[in-house]
Amino acid sequence: MIKLKENEQYKIVCGDCFEALKQLPDASVDLILTDPPYNLANYSTGNMKFDWRAEINNDVAEWDEKPLDPASLLPEFKRVLKPTGNIFIFCSYNLLGDYHKVFDPEFDTFQFMAWHKTNPVPNIRKSSFLNSVELIVCCWNKGHTWNFSKQNEMHNFIESPICMGKERIKNKEGKNAHPTQKPVRILEHIIKIASNENDVVLDCFMGVGSTAEAALKLNRKFIGVELDPEYVELTKKRLDL
Ligand SMILES: C[S@@+](CC[C@H](N)C(=O)[O-])C[C@H]1O[C@@H](n2cnc3c(N)ncnc32)[C@H](O)[C@@H]1O
Repeated sequence: MIKLKENEQYKIVCGDCFEALKQLPDASVDLILTDPPYNLANYSTGNMKFDWRAEINNDVAEWDEKPLDPASLLPEFKRVLKPTGNIFIFCSYNLLGDYHKVFDPEFDTFQFMAWHKTNPVPNIRKSSFLNSVELIVCCWNKGHTWNFSKQNEMHNFIESPICMGKERIKNKEGKNAHPTQKPVRILEHIIKIASNENDVVLDCFMGVGSTAEAALKLNRKFIGVELDPEYVELTKKRLDL
């Protein structure tokens, strides 16, 4: 059983979240804030190579090669979420319809937020739009936790650069450790709106622990699951655990 004791702040599990979720008690999580694979393998054209500059990383991460069906997340998410809970899921454009189809009928409200990346990867060939927007699916039932004082805190649009510089977690070789590390600023914004202090935040596709950092900073409890042991180690190092 994966359960936080009274005085425990976090649990980090290295493993497959579809197994780990089964070990969480019913109605034990206040906020699911997570960033699953995006099913982008079919759309990738690989890294962009040039004679005159370094190649641009546009390849699909290894963990994104295995398709993820949003429907497979629904049963355990519904079971572990408290009636007062909220769900926020980072989502690529190609999966928005799939999330809507399965999550909307099961919750009182289904909405999405748009994150505008102010420093997107450039399109050197100038052949299309920049990928400067990422979506975040959100849903909840009546009676869910909601903290805001003014309407202008509640635009479903947020702007922030993608992680750069010191925020970017590096691997042993000194390279960016995770291709889709999320900015803590965005995660904090969501956690503040959608949970209270001491609430339990779950990120079952934890990566290098960005949600963990935001949750613990805001005095929430945290449960994280990640398949890749290297990302788990980097999370522990990042959080000084
Ligand atoms: C989009 S990334 C999350 C990045 C994270 N938000 C961050 O800021 O570091 C998705 C993560 O899910 C992990 N993953 C994929 N399938 C998984 C599974 N079945 N169980 C647990 N983790 C999984 C991948 O290894 C990857 O690190």
